[in-house]
Amino acid sequence: MALTKHFLVVFALLLVSNICDGQGLKLGYYRKTCSKVEAIVKKETTKIITTAPTLAAPLLRMHFHDCFVRGCDGSVLLNSTRTTQAEKDAVPNQSLRGFGSVDRVKSAVEKKCPGVVSCADILALVARDAVSVLKGPFWKVPLGRKDGKVSNATEALNNLPPPFFNITQLKASFASKGLNAKDLVVLSGGHTIGTSHCSSFTNRLYNFTGRGDSDPALDSNYATRLRRKCSPTDVRTLVEMDPGSFKTFDEDYFALVAKRRGLFTSDSALLDDAQIRAYINRQVATKGSTFFKDFADSMVKMGKIGVLTGKNAGEIRKRCAFVN
Ligand code: HEM
Ligand SMILES: *[C@@H]1O[C@H](CO)[C@@H](O)[C@H](O)[C@H]1NC(C)=O
Ligand SMILES: *[C@@H]1O[C@H](CO)[C@@H](O)[C@H](O)[C@H]1NC(C)=O
Ligand SMILES: *[C@@H]1O[C@H](CO)[C@@H](O)[C@H](O)[C@H]1NC(C)=O
Ligand SMILES: *[C@@H]1O[C@H](CO)[C@@H](O)[C@H](O)[C@H]1NC(C)=O
Ligand SMILES: *[C@@H]1O[C@H](CO)[C@@H](O)[C@H](O)[C@H]1NC(C)=O
Repeated sequence: MALTKHFLVVFALLLVSNICDGQGLKLGYYRKTCSKVEAIVKKETTKIITTAPTLAAPLLRMHFHDCFVRGCDGSVLLNSTRTTQAEKDAVPNQSLRGFGSVDRVKSAVEKKCPGVVSCADILALVARDAVSVLKGPFWKVPLGRKDGKVSNATEALNNLPPPFFNITQLKASFASKGLNAKDLVVLSGGHTIGTSHCSSFTNRLYNFTGRGDSDPALDSNYATRLRRKCSPTDVRTLVEMDPGSFKTFDEDYFALVAKRRGLFTSDSALLDDAQIRAYINRQVATKGSTFFKDFADSMVKMGKIGVLTGKNAGEIRKRCAFVN
């Protein structure tokens, strides 16, 4: 009898821990309070990306930047105040855009369920839907994030990996967020979509070691081609990160990196770790057989970094750029 009871308790605990995702996020969190939220976000995001396909990439990147600074708490969406410079005004924001799109989706959700759905959750859903619209993978997003009240530019600078990081630094940066080497290579695959400013990689093209050379880790033909697009001081021009298919979410990124055509030092550096290199080669050899599934898994994991959950943490912002 006692044994049965004990067994039932253990069984119930297992069930609960299965339903409630790590740190209190769960699937269907808004089922009772805003059952249409995912449909609304999907409809609005699809409208936005269909009209402007280049917005998908910055929206995915925005979720990454949100999660790496103070956890996925919508802090990336906050505007600067009189006393504090916000994350969006930090140097690594380089070109973050799409804030207006998030506001638009938030407004549509507010119309149906005012004051219920956090901006952090909306951003996580928008990022997911943006990737799907570009024919990428789909994943279920555990929800229940609360919005934070602080956004600090210095913290963005300290927590976001810059494009010139080497493999040791990249692994350390991801590890500090609870992400492993596999998450690093898989999520770097996000660079299959979008564009970059020349200034994020011109250091690799000109006088890399002070002998008028380019980065030896960069394919020299590719370097020549990039030099034609980017003068040493160009801060305006945008370059496709996955030339030819930067508006399609596919596995091409790994073929590029394997051919030493990754745009950033951080892309090239992935080849410097044997385990990571093996992953890249496997995706190339199998036409990305596991990439979509892996990306979905790592996005869910990234989406759980440092989340605020429960009654006493954070708030549900009314407008994403401002604390209530
Ligand atoms: C591994 C460390 C990473 C570094 C060092 C890095 C760095 C960068 C840089 C420098 C840019 C170009 C910004 C510009 O000059 O306009 C960029 C763009 C981008 N990144 Fe990353 N990134 C990293 C990881 C990620 C992750 C984890 C994701 C998402 C899963 C991501 C998604 C993107 C996307 C989609 C763009 C294109 C944005 C656009 O088109 O505006 N990146 N990244
Ligand atoms: C908030 O910041 C965004 C992006 O920097 C800007 O476009 C917008 O005008 C700001 N909103 C207000 C009300 O200041
Ligand atoms: C922003 O973060 C930095 C680094 O953690 C800290 O030194 C600074 O005091 C913060 N600024 C504000 C206004 O809180
Ligand atoms: C990014 O930061 C710069 C200052 O470093 C600022 O001028 C620019 O408006 C910011 N971009 C966005 C989208 O907020
Ligand atoms: C990476 O950069 C750090 C800091 O500059 C340096 O100490 C380390 O030796 C570098 N590691 C590799 C593998 O290049
Ligand atoms: C390249 O770098 C070296 C060492 O920093 C410097 O002396 C030289 O003037 C640079 N050359 C050009 C063309 O900038």
